[in-house]
Amino acid sequence: MYMSRISRKKEHVDYALKTGQSGQTGLDDIQFVHQCVPESSLSACDLTTSVGGLSLSSPFFINAMTGGTNDTMGINDQLSVAARESGLAMAVGSQMSAIQHPEYRRTYSVVRKNNPDGIIIANLGAEASLQDAWTAIDMVGADALQIHLNVMQELIMPEGDRDFRGALERIADIAENVDIPVIVKEVGFGISRESFLKILETGVAAVDVGGSGGTNFALIENLRRSEEPLDMFRDWGLNTAQSLLEVHSVNSEVSVIASGGIRNGLDAARAIALGADAAGMAGFFLKTVTESGVDGVLDAIRQLHRQFKIVMTALGVENLTQLQKVPLVISGATYHWARLRGIDCRIYATR
Ligand SMILES: Cc1cc2nc3c(=O)[nH]c(=O)nc-3n(C[C@H](O)[C@H](O)[C@H](O)COP(=O)(O)O)c2cc1C
Repeated sequence: MYMSRISRKKEHVDYALKTGQSGQTGLDDIQFVHQCVPESSLSACDLTTSVGGLSLSSPFFINAMTGGTNDTMGINDQLSVAARESGLAMAVGSQMSAIQHPEYRRTYSVVRKNNPDGIIIANLGAEASLQDAWTAIDMVGADALQIHLNVMQELIMPEGDRDFRGALERIADIAENVDIPVIVKEVGFGISRESFLKILETGVAAVDVGGSGGTNFALIENLRRSEEPLDMFRDWGLNTAQSLLEVHSVNSEVSVIASGGIRNGLDAARAIALGADAAGMAGFFLKTVTESGVDGVLDAIRQLHRQFKIVMTALGVENLTQLQKVPLVISGATYHWARLRGIDCRIYATR
């Protein structure tokens, strides 16, 4: 089990790079209504936002990926330098391996060492206990804690979990007893309205929808299986647009994060207009840091901010609160999904 958890970390990185992102996020079905007299200026765009009470200078952040091996420590090292230089928040990958094997703690804590004043997010699975949560938070001096839900990934993973009982109770225990915001996240299969309503009862501060259309863990785990392929599940889940519509259809106070296949500033702006407060990117930053290092990531972040500001300026909005209220026309398969799920797309088109 020990070696399999460690070798899995490296395999996830390698297969994530190999499989890439399908792009089937549904976000292409979301169209802004262009305004030809917006009376706006690119220089007036304010990108600040807030997630679970944490103030962020940018709606973009580096989502949870890795740590736990020497190879993956290099990725955390480089990404955390880019996070420091850009001011972006950054999540580390699941810290369970370092909880069980303290010699790997440095592969996560490097992120705090490189970035003493930045916003760092710890990460654990829903099997974690309150004691695990305290250890993970302490390991990186975390400002928030992500708890990931990855039932489908585990079921396809050859050595994965098969029993998912008690997750909501453990999450509620952690949310009540840690003094930083807790974020529940999916890893690429999305969050439905029904699941969101259950998660809300745990008292967490934020939810990251982690929809399909980006890094695909059904595909990745299937590649790691040597027998009994389960490739029929490659399209399982709610995509990012569907998940955002589902979550936004519930009246709640929790912050919403969009992730799953966000590729550029336009995707992120569409996600914010669908009600998200921030946009997480994992696969995109993994590819960028692997191909072009810290400078490449910093360059990509500058481009993301510019693309996002172009949308804001063309629509005549100056901040994210205004962007969350612009009209949107929802078409195609996303419209079909929303209609059948009782979500009224006219509200978005006429607001
Ligand atoms: C190599 C790799 C490892 C990942 N490991 C974790 C993890 O340990 N914990 C977690 O919550 N999410 C993990 N994720 C999922 C991402 O945080 C994200 O939810 C998912 O990849 C979808 O976003 P993307 O399309 O931008 O990659 C991982 C993603 C990648 C690419």
